[in-house]
Amino acid sequence: MLKINYSNIPKIIIALDFCNKKKAMKLVDLLNPSLFYLKIGKEMFTILGKKFINELHQLGFNIFLDLKFHDIPNTVFNATKAAADLGIWMLSIHASGGKKMLMSAKKALESFKEAPLLIAVTALTSFKQEDLKDIGIQMSLQNYILILSKLSYDCGLDGVVCPGKEAKKIKLLYGDKYKIVSPGIRCIHDSAFDQNQIITPKQAKNFPIDYIVIGRSITSSKNPIKKLNLIIQSMQ
Ligand code: C5P
Repeated sequence: MLKINYSNIPKIIIALDFCNKKKAMKLVDLLNPSLFYLKIGKEMFTILGKKFINELHQLGFNIFLDLKFHDIPNTVFNATKAAADLGIWMLSIHASGGKKMLMSAKKALESFKEAPLLIAVTALTSFKQEDLKDIGIQMSLQNYILILSKLSYDCGLDGVVCPGKEAKKIKLLYGDKYKIVSPGIRCIHDSAFDQNQIITPKQAKNFPIDYIVIGRSITSSKNPIKKLNLIIQSMQ
């Protein structure tokens, strides 16, 4: 049997996008918290709130709270503080909220001894060029991602969420410490669903990505653990 080496592949964040706790726990109970991170997004957090985060912490998981804050600086300051109080490992915010909002979020974390990583979403991986045009932005999607990556870097954020294909450029510009988180991970025969900026796990391994986010490839599979293992094997 192939011996799995986790040290030379991106770390895996599983997107727990389920409509109820029972479904989520069916998968969580099969995962090793020392190997996988969990991402709680708008759906599960709205349904289950901070109690669920506490329960997952008790099981030993590091949690990426993916609420993608985007609001006026004061509101984001207070929401970021409240999120950090939960003891989460990573938190997301929209880079397009602008400089003052990003800096407020950063400031909100100053008083925490162990602050979560603050990561800015550049462009959603569901976006393609025409979606940018629809919201009045004429530049290329790639330039948009680079501009927001620079803004987030300048505001002192820990990294960005971006399509895997942009990882190399961003790492070259801002260095290895600037974290890259990439969703839109699909195996060759998987459905893309609503994602448009897609890479395979194998491609992800060859880009300088720190964390890959995998959701429906695993969660919509009949045998999620088998699928997860196949994904990991494809990156060896
Ligand atoms: O199911 P799938 O693998 O497409 O899940 C991707 C996850 O990553 C979802 O939970 C989605 O909210 C999140 N995400 C994303 N694109 C971003 C930021 C987060 O798809 N730019």
